[in-house]
Amino acid sequence: MKNRTMMYAACVCGLLLSLPQSVKAQQLITGAPLSIPPILEESLVNGRRENTGSERVFELTVNEGQREFAAGVLSPTLGYNADYLGPTIRVRRNDELRLRVRNRLDEATTVHWHGAHLPAEADGGPHQQIPAGESWEARFRVDQEAATLWYHPHLKGTTAEQVYLGLAGFFIIDDEHSDSLGLPNTYGADDIPLVLQERRFTRDGRMDYSPRMPDIMHGYFGNALLTNGSAEPQLEVSHRLLRLRVLNGSNSSLLRVFMDGSMPMYQVATDGGFLSQPTEVEELVLSPGERAEIVLDLQGHEGTRPRLMAESNGGNTYNALSLRIAETLQQSEELPATLVRREFPSDAAAVRQRDFVMSSMGPGGRLTINGRTMDMSRIDEQVKLGTSEVWRISSRGMMMSMPHNFHVHGLQFQILRINGSRPPPHLRGPKDTVLLYPGDTVEIFLEFENYTGVFMYHCHLLEHEDEGMMGQFEVLP
Ligand code: C2O
Ligand code: CU
Ligand code: CU
Repeated sequence: MKNRTMMYAACVCGLLLSLPQSVKAQQLITGAPLSIPPILEESLVNGRRENTGSERVFELTVNEGQREFAAGVLSPTLGYNADYLGPTIRVRRNDELRLRVRNRLDEATTVHWHGAHLPAEADGGPHQQIPAGESWEARFRVDQEAATLWYHPHLKGTTAEQVYLGLAGFFIIDDEHSDSLGLPNTYGADDIPLVLQERRFTRDGRMDYSPRMPDIMHGYFGNALLTNGSAEPQLEVSHRLLRLRVLNGSNSSLLRVFMDGSMPMYQVATDGGFLSQPTEVEELVLSPGERAEIVLDLQGHEGTRPRLMAESNGGNTYNALSLRIAETLQQSEELPATLVRREFPSDAAAVRQRDFVMSSMGPGGRLTINGRTMDMSRIDEQVKLGTSEVWRISSRGMMMSMPHNFHVHGLQFQILRINGSRPPPHLRGPKDTVLLYPGDTVEIFLEFENYTGVFMYHCHLLEHEDEGMMGQFEVLP
C-alpha cells in the first residue's frame, strides 16, 4: 500500500500539478486543545422530552458561520448547530429515530447518513432535497451493529463545496455487544472521534474552495490538515488505552495515517463494524469517506508526546494530533482477543455478478461509471430484496489518472478480493467505501436486506461525485 501510494503521489504531483505548498505553520492557529464535537442531546419541548412514544428526536440546523483558522482572519464556513462541522449523534441499535433537519442556508441541501442501513426515503441522498429555509425529517430504526458512521450533504453538484465548508458530523452506534467488549468508550476522554480534512488556505490564511479543471480531475488537494476543525491540535490523555475513530473527511485526498514513533496501532473496526480481532497495522490508508477505529496502548509512553501523522497523496505530510500522555495512566481493560465472529462470505451465496467500470476518461472525456454519468431519472441496476450479489469494480486508467473509491448507500458490504487476492485482515470488516488505485479490480459481496427503493453508488472523491461519477440501484421486492 505504502509504495503504491507514494508512487502515485510522485507521479501525479510531479508531472501534472504545481501543488500548493504547506501553509507556514505560524499562519494557521496551531496547538489548541483538540476540539471534541459535542454529543447531540435529544430535543426537548418546554424542557421535557417530546411526546413521541419510543422515538428519540434529534434536531440539526444547517447554518452559515465563520471561523478564525488563522489569527485575525475569518473564513466563511458552514456547520450543523455550529460554525464548522456538527455534533456527534450517538445512538443505540434498535433506537427509533426522528432526525429533524432545518436548512437555514440560502441554497438547498440534504443530509445523508453515510453507512446507515435504512429505508431509501430516509437516506438523505439527492432525492431528499431540503430547499432553502425548509425542513426535513428522517425516521428510521437503527438496524445495524455498533459502528462509526457519519453524516454530510448529498445534493447533486454542490456536495463537494458544502462538505468542504464544514458540513460533516459523526454518527456513532453502540450496542450490547460493543458494551461488553471493554473497549475504551468514554467519549472525549479515551474514545475520540477524529475527522481529518485536507484543506487549502490562501496566503493570507483564508480557507479557499475554488476548484479548477485539474482540481476536479485529479483532486482538490490542500496545504493544511484540519483535525476536528483545527490545525495540529493537542490532546491530553490519561488512560492506558486510547480509541481513535478516524474519518477521512477530505474532499478527494487519500490520507496515510501513522504514528511518528514506535507505538503500535491496533485497528479494531472498519467503516461499519468490528474486525474479528484487533489487528496491528503500521498505517491506515483512508480514502474520502472511509473510517477506521484504532486503539493505542500508551503504557510505557507515560510523559511523552507522540504524534499522529497524516500524509496526503497531494504530497504533504501533516501533524494530525499531538498526544500529551500523563505521567501516570489509569488502567484500562485489556484489549479483547476476539471482537466479533464474522464469516467470510462465499461467492456461492451470490445470485449474480455485476461489473462496474470507473473511468477518469470515459465517453466525452468525462468521469464515468460504466460509461455513464449520473442521471437522477435513470435506474442503472435493479436488484432483488433478499438476495446477495458480487459486484466487480474496476478502475480504468493509467498512472496519470486519479485513484477512485466506490461507495454504496443503504448497506455494508464485505470485500471478497482485491486484484484476485483475499483482502488483508484489516479490510475484512464491514465496509461501505472501498479504495481503488488505477488498474485495480475489487470484488465486493452485498446483501440486499429489509428495504426496497432507490439507493446510490458512487465515487466518494467529492469532485468526481459532483461531476456525475454516480449511479442508482433499485432494490425490488
Ligand atoms: Cu458519504 Cu453517497 O455518500
Ligand atoms: Cu453514503
Ligand atoms: Cu473518482
